[in-house]
Amino acid sequence: MDELPIRSGDDVVRVRQQVRVVAAKSGLSLVDQTKVVTAASELARNALVHGGGGAASIEVVTSGQGRSGIRVGFTDDGPGIADLDLALTDGWSSGDGLGLGLSGARRLVDEFELTSKPGSGTSVMVVKWSR
Ligand SMILES: Nc1ncnc2c1ncn2[C@@H]1O[C@H](COP(=O)(O)OP(=O)(O)OP(=O)(O)O)[C@@H](O)[C@H]1O
Ligand SMILES: [Mg+2]
Repeated sequence: MDELPIRSGDDVVRVRQQVRVVAAKSGLSLVDQTKVVTAASELARNALVHGGGGAASIEVVTSGQGRSGIRVGFTDDGPGIADLDLALTDGWSSGDGLGLGLSGARRLVDEFELTSKPGSGTSVMVVKWSR
């Protein structure tokens, strides 16, 4: 398992690169590698911009059926998200973003878990399986 800090734009780039390496190692197609890298990039940027910084964990996982994949987790200790459904709505941003990061990330992966409460930070876990 790789643990990477997310405190700067350079850190977001490093997360992208490491997700690419581990996604390739876990047997994903090039298209699926790019999907999970794109999702991870949006989630890392959210942890930085909205969460005030955090960390990413990246690992290869194996399903009960013997499929391999990649799991990427993000945590931050920022303000949290009051309304998860609203945050996941296409085009909704509390700032001047496009509001497509969270909703887009969810569509690009096979499993997506968003946990957040105002005042106790945010965590997001995504999995992409090889097929
Ligand atoms: N880690 C986080 N901590 C707190 N709030 C968050 C976090 N991630 C997302 N949010 C909230 O959810 C909203 C939607 O996130 P989303 O990534 O979809 O859009 P955005 O970051 O505003 O714009 P962009 O399209 O550039 O990503 C954000 O505007 C923000 O209010
Ligand atoms: Mg975003």
